[in-house]
Amino acid sequence: MTRIAILSDIHANLFALDAVYQDLQQQQPDEILIGGDLVGRGPQGDAVVQFIKEQGWRSVKGNHEDYLLNFHHRRIPTDWLTDPVWSASRWMAAELSSESIDFIENIPFSLRPNLDPMTFLTHGTPRSNQEGIGSWTPAEQLSELTAEFAQGETLVVGHTHRPVLLDYAGITIVNTGSVGLPFNGDWRAQYVILNRTDDNTPQEVEFRQVEYDRDAFLQHYKDSGFLAEGGITSALLYQELLCARPFLVPYLRWAEALGKNVDMLTVEEFLEFYDCNLSMEELFKLFHELVALGK
Ligand SMILES: [Fe+2]
Ligand SMILES: [Fe+2]
Repeated sequence: MTRIAILSDIHANLFALDAVYQDLQQQQPDEILIGGDLVGRGPQGDAVVQFIKEQGWRSVKGNHEDYLLNFHHRRIPTDWLTDPVWSASRWMAAELSSESIDFIENIPFSLRPNLDPMTFLTHGTPRSNQEGIGSWTPAEQLSELTAEFAQGETLVVGHTHRPVLLDYAGITIVNTGSVGLPFNGDWRAQYVILNRTDDNTPQEVEFRQVEYDRDAFLQHYKDSGFLAEGGITSALLYQELLCARPFLVPYLRWAEALGKNVDMLTVEEFLEFYDCNLSMEELFKLFHELVALGK
């Protein structure tokens, strides 16, 4: 039997990655791969990239690698270089060493495991690292995304930070969930191990959850200066870690819908009423109600 571990969306959280590494020492998979978003949305991007480089684990490129490379190379609107809204991105791009920048520049968009040519790994979908697959993805979209796949093949993705297992027309679709910043309400570091006995047997997918020292990571937010210097983004990411649910995107959508300034004052206002267990659908409904009330 071949066992392949896939870790995605580490998001600059070395504490979570280290706990998964300890778990992998017990599990002893035959191959270990990374599903992208090694960096971004966290303060330990350089340490995470260096750890992965030292292990020799192959990776695919997430949208956050692209995003921080754009900041590093200043392929961004000029005002983003000074606007406080982008301070966390500037902080994270500046934190990466030139070795880490070189490493993430050279990460491919997709790959297949050396030990399992029937499996295809990419960050978001086969056509974009900014598009996610989840339990909500309509069959029509799954059909488009798997058009090039043969029966018995497995598509492995990350990006949504929510683990899922789908079977679409004989193709297995696995979302690994997130090591460093899960959004499924479970704060533990999450990854998958794929077990394949032979080409004719469907792959068995094992979703793993590993406890890590989250308090130490939250303390690192403070000690590293990321919380104080990263402005609204760091403040909202801190909440995401506590709740294991999204805060940053809901806040930005809320501010846009209600015509609010994007600043620390409105972040505080948002945190007062936001229930992180609301689904996006429920949240948008609430925004519409607030807009109707003129709040
Ligand atoms: Fe991500
Ligand atoms: Fe992503």
